[in-house]
Amino acid sequence: MLNILIVIGASGDLTWRKIVPALFRLKIRGKLPEPFALIGVARTVMTDQQWADRLRTEGGSALVPPGREEAWNEFTRSLFYCPGSATEDSTFQSVRSKMDQLEMDAGCPGQSNCVCYLAVSSRLYPEILARLGESGLTNETNGSRFCVVIEKPFGYDQASAAALNKLTHEVLPEERIFRIDHYLGKETVNNIFALRFGNTIFEPLWNRQYIDHVQITAAESVLVGHRGAFYETAGVLRDMFANHLLQLLAITTMEPPSNFDADRVRDEKVKVLRAVRRLSEEEVPENIVVGQYEGYHQERGVDPESCVPTFSAIRLFIDDWRWKDVPFYLRSGKGMSCRTTQILIVYKEPPHCIFNECGTPGAMEVNRLLLQLQPAEGIRLTFLTKVPGTEMELRESVLSYSFEEQGTNQPADAYERLLLDAFAGDASLFARCDELEAAWNIIDPFNVWLDKQAKAGHKPPVYPVGNWGPEESNRWLDRDKRHWLDSCPVIRH
Ligand code: BG6
Repeated sequence: MLNILIVIGASGDLTWRKIVPALFRLKIRGKLPEPFALIGVARTVMTDQQWADRLRTEGGSALVPPGREEAWNEFTRSLFYCPGSATEDSTFQSVRSKMDQLEMDAGCPGQSNCVCYLAVSSRLYPEILARLGESGLTNETNGSRFCVVIEKPFGYDQASAAALNKLTHEVLPEERIFRIDHYLGKETVNNIFALRFGNTIFEPLWNRQYIDHVQITAAESVLVGHRGAFYETAGVLRDMFANHLLQLLAITTMEPPSNFDADRVRDEKVKVLRAVRRLSEEEVPENIVVGQYEGYHQERGVDPESCVPTFSAIRLFIDDWRWKDVPFYLRSGKGMSCRTTQILIVYKEPPHCIFNECGTPGAMEVNRLLLQLQPAEGIRLTFLTKVPGTEMELRESVLSYSFEEQGTNQPADAYERLLLDAFAGDASLFARCDELEAAWNIIDPFNVWLDKQAKAGHKPPVYPVGNWGPEESNRWLDRDKRHWLDSCPVIRH
């Protein structure tokens, strides 16, 4: 059977930055399902070779590392290009003919395992899905398979996500729809499953009885860059929270599934997302803080009067037996001090303290479990030990685990992993329709509040690039008698 990846949006950023490099790395490592063909679809008129050359130029050495030219040239033999608009029937007819020809050449007519990747602006999804359905490409015949990978943003809010889900289901059944969230393909995100459900030592303490609060941070030092126009329609809440951060929250807080099947895992994620308290309009302001980095207005594609936040922190509660009243602080921003993604579990202080240090500032947060997801990947547990000597003096000590130090193989990039899963038909690491709607349901009240703030002309406080968001973020957490911890990567490459 021929494995075909159709990329709609072949001349876009995502294609040369993420998709093609992931495929090429898989090829080099001998992991690409073979025989393989990549069909690019975009409006620009180009030949197969011109498309390959363009990818090569745009991708530079990040795509083809030194010494890999020959491998790249060989890889380009499986690259094909179909010019045309993704909203016109004729384009899909040429894709169909190209597929027929490739299947014939591979000696397996009518037999392909096809993954169609929508790497275009999300406003085109409805039309493209309709065209895919009408063209018959989505029909699986004996021996062929067809599924669609849909990039985020999937909808704009709960209602639009539900409408898009409905439309998608008119064309394909749920099991052939792969809504991609690249955070789910990250090695360390998957390691959370191993840590929580492969051990007995953490799980008994993983609840409201022992955990004081949880901080989930996805900080980026980069700015919006050339994505200003897109960012204006999204802001940090739609760009990072409705998907990546809530996925991290779900994996951190879900109940153990009965097995590791896609649907059992996703059932548990949906359950916990639905248990997140939906805030009323009055409750939102005290549960959010926003900021905008200095100079955002000058970015290309950004409205000079823009009220779009580039930083936000929100507080959530999960109303179930395990987590009742434990606050979850989620924050993300661009233009921050460093790049790090981490989940920090802060444990409660011991019920009774027999040492002098008890009650001193910081003593309460001493037991912390840090799951650092990037840039370096590892786990760090902090606890008290005795300072050697005659006094009973305590100090903070750490147990640290770094993936790199363990000499493990370089973890596969998220897109590599997810593309392979899509070819294998394994949807465990893709978002299900109800999961996404539950996530939007949590974020919507914050966005409604933000829209009202913008209409009233209230701009987010400005923070200097290279800071941890606006000062308001610290004051906001102070009110809960807590503060942000372990901000910059503590586990290093
Ligand atoms: C994307 C967002 O989904 O994730 C970007 O659209 C963000 O704005 C990126 O920069 C962050 O991904 P990562 O893997 O670098 O943490």
